[in-house]
Amino acid sequence: MLVTDFPRSAEWFVGDEEIAVMHRVALRNSGISDDLEAGKPLIGIADSSSTLNPCNLPLRSLVEDVSRGIRDAGGIPVVFPVMSLGEDLMKPTAMLYRNLLSIEVEEYARSYPLDGLVVLAGCDKSLPGALMGALSADIRTLAVVSGPRQAGVLDGTSLGTGTALWRADHERQSGARDSAAWKEFERALACGPGTCNTMGTASTLAILTEVLGFMLPGTAGAAAGSVERADAAYRSGVALTESVLRNDPAETPQRVLSETALRNALVTLCALGGSPNAVIHLIALAGRVGITLTGALLDGVARSVPVLADIEPAGVGLLADFERAGGTPALLEALGDHVDTSVRAGDGRAWAEHLRPAETVGEHVPIRSLEDPVAPLAFAVLSGNLAPRGSLMRVATAPELRPVQTGPALVWHSYADMRRQIHDPNLAVTADTVLVLTGAGPVGAPGMPEWGVIPIPRVLAAQGVTDMLRISDGRMSGTAFGSCVVHVSPEAAIGGPLALLRTGDLITLDVPARSLSVALSEEELAERRAAWTPAPVRDLRGWPLLYRRHVGQADTGCDFDFLTAHTPEQRVVVQP
Ligand code: FES
Ligand code: MG
Repeated sequence: MLVTDFPRSAEWFVGDEEIAVMHRVALRNSGISDDLEAGKPLIGIADSSSTLNPCNLPLRSLVEDVSRGIRDAGGIPVVFPVMSLGEDLMKPTAMLYRNLLSIEVEEYARSYPLDGLVVLAGCDKSLPGALMGALSADIRTLAVVSGPRQAGVLDGTSLGTGTALWRADHERQSGARDSAAWKEFERALACGPGTCNTMGTASTLAILTEVLGFMLPGTAGAAAGSVERADAAYRSGVALTESVLRNDPAETPQRVLSETALRNALVTLCALGGSPNAVIHLIALAGRVGITLTGALLDGVARSVPVLADIEPAGVGLLADFERAGGTPALLEALGDHVDTSVRAGDGRAWAEHLRPAETVGEHVPIRSLEDPVAPLAFAVLSGNLAPRGSLMRVATAPELRPVQTGPALVWHSYADMRRQIHDPNLAVTADTVLVLTGAGPVGAPGMPEWGVIPIPRVLAAQGVTDMLRISDGRMSGTAFGSCVVHVSPEAAIGGPLALLRTGDLITLDVPARSLSVALSEEELAERRAAWTPAPVRDLRGWPLLYRRHVGQADTGCDFDFLTAHTPEQRVVVQP
């Protein structure tokens, strides 16, 4: 018989019936000696550490810190493993499994006697995936990230993860870096576990999670393995347990993820010059609570909020500099009226109570002021007859961008073909050519890999070309840079206009007009569409098939149709 409805786990443990006895014995067999009828909340720790995923590996040592925090605050910690999504090693991309992780977290929360959740995440898809699941379960949740890895050093220069690799590869293709230097670079690049230390997707998402109120304020940037990181983990265990015990309905995830909080996150994303991938993840998170984020909203925010974080790839510093300058609380302070600081931070207090002025780091100002920004514009949302449902360009990381340009397309409808041909010495290409890759979308690849930054062809790199216009229906690494239009929607695989494109077609980019178009008449496009047939689906079973059937396009956050909450009535709320 149910004695009390709080905490939720009491339904499992309280009473003298044989089922309650079985439940108590089960946890006793797991080594938990607490009185399970005393009403202490059971707090799950979702551990995604793995040696296959160096970005998340430091989480393993944080399990103990979080557990201590939970105990000290009067809870009972229980640890369970969740899928470890590492972008470095998973082919074609960890993004193929973000929604699977969300399902995993949601179903743990649904089926086990959990009263709250601390998700341990790091590599970029692991954080939004876990949060999406926690939101749908509507279980009180705080995230703890592994933290950025330390920077490798080569010739006295710090190597920013990803960004330095893409630069070095370009130098290799241009002939400026020989194979010995390339090997030496590889050795310097391996500098230990943790997430990308640039403003890639992991760093961006960690900061946005903090802004959204699902991480303790000021803890997104603490370095992997640092004392501050362990302290953040301990305090997160305490804070989440206290939140569960407060049992304040205003602190449930579906209430925390308000329209105001999401708008703050978009403002922050622009001020970070952060990862384009974050746009997809924010749309997906919002979709879980029935809130729609549009491209027009993002474009409007981007027009009014300049880039303030002077961090690679939009600027020059690394995450350690952002952290030393004061981290998220200092960035929000610098943003002034652009953010609404009355919303809750992860500790349940208003963000306004956490703001602090930004500090300089020697000569470097990692967090600039609105009067002296790093760049005026972070993002442009582009549409036109090539992207009827929109596409995205991170302008802040394309310093050589020609905002208005027209050029002939060089089209690959296959990633493998592009990789085989891109450095061919006879490639027919000039600096005005527009490189196009299709088949890289959510359905096409599947999973929407980070193939959008097509390398500069060797023939052009050798001539000193360092940037050119590239277009794809895929994504790009948040650590990458260049004039790249990504997230073109609808994608080629479902018959989007990119599928109809041929080499030689004239493409026009007009950033001031936010337009991306091809010089083809409606009639010509209709004729080509009539002759077009979709590529045969290779995956006839298993996860990839399920994924293709249910995944949405970039403008809907690439979530599954059956996971989004279309109306408040459709929200999935865990019932005891
Ligand atoms: Fe894992 Fe960047 S690849 S955090
Ligand atoms: Mg990445």
